[in-house]
Amino acid sequence: MKIGLLGMGTVGGGVYELCARQTDMEITRVLEKRFQAPYITTEIADIVHDPDISLVVETLGGLHPAYEFAREALKNGKHFVTANKLLVSACGEELSALAHQNGCAFLYGAACGGGIPFLHNLALARETDHITALGGILNGTTNYILDAMQSCGMDYGAALAQAQALGYAEADPSSDVEGLDTMRKLVLGCLVGLSARVSPESIPTLGISKVLAQDIAWARAHGLTLRLCAFAARLSGGISAYVEPTLVPGNAAESAILKNVNYAWYEADGCGRMCYTGQGAGRLPTASNVLRDIYAVMQGQRAMADTDCAAVTPDNSIAGHGYYLRLPPDVQVPESWIAHHTLDSDWQYIETVPVSVKSMHACIAQHPGAFAAGIQKG
Ligand code: HSE
Repeated sequence: MKIGLLGMGTVGGGVYELCARQTDMEITRVLEKRFQAPYITTEIADIVHDPDISLVVETLGGLHPAYEFAREALKNGKHFVTANKLLVSACGEELSALAHQNGCAFLYGAACGGGIPFLHNLALARETDHITALGGILNGTTNYILDAMQSCGMDYGAALAQAQALGYAEADPSSDVEGLDTMRKLVLGCLVGLSARVSPESIPTLGISKVLAQDIAWARAHGLTLRLCAFAARLSGGISAYVEPTLVPGNAAESAILKNVNYAWYEADGCGRMCYTGQGAGRLPTASNVLRDIYAVMQGQRAMADTDCAAVTPDNSIAGHGYYLRLPPDVQVPESWIAHHTLDSDWQYIETVPVSVKSMHACIAQHPGAFAAGIQKG
């Protein structure tokens, strides 16, 4: 199969390297501005109008011009494979429909979980089982930061700089640390696993940018480990979905997920809980997942999600779980929330009774500087 590659950055370079080892996948044109070579072009038309190219791989990242290029490729009858979670979480429905109209594939396995074949397995499981919940640790940068703070006592800024130097972080790392990257991956999980079209804006999302050494100390004192987790589950007549820092018991699987490793799970009526762990970011792991998509297209796969996914607004209003809360001393929360309360000169530390995700995220939105983490019971 002859392939056009859009972008020769970290992931694109990995795709080029791995395809060179294959006998049945040949990258014949690359769209790239920074280098020159006979196979490199700066014109998208050279790829989407090349009659020999039947599949376009997009590893540019960002919404524009990836979106316009996806439309051009699909309208010209090219299969389209992307690792771009921003593109798929924002425009996946439209691009899937365009692909369908043009008899093309639109696959995005590498857009969630880096090298982990999570979406592929969700798509397979959905066909023969009833998936009831899914989630996990879906961002390598934040896991790297939290692990470095907890395992080595590293400062937040230094840990983020290391994650950036290692190539895990997004061009704008605020999408990692504010939980947006995790949330976009959860959008894809809901689409593929739960056949639910959830808009990115409708998922309550808390990140880790406010985490302090005091939070890590509180976790350690309570035998807990801090992770950034995504969660989605079917409810009767809807779904619940959210992203938040989560304190997990020291013996929980998430607690053993170190550095930039991801941990994605789903639960289904038949198979029970299935867990996948591995490299969630980086050049060759992500490229390896892109090649799985290319192979799947060659085998005849054309889509990852159902064609008739329902639009759903998550309902996070049922009482969920207890929280750890660190707040400025002058801030009050409802008395009925408080299970334990301590104070030092700078902060108050509260452990709550079960509180709905909706109420807690609304509370945190009003108090910049505050930090909250859900408490997962063992
Ligand atoms: N910035 C992302 C992460 C890259 O850290 O997981 C992989 O999606």
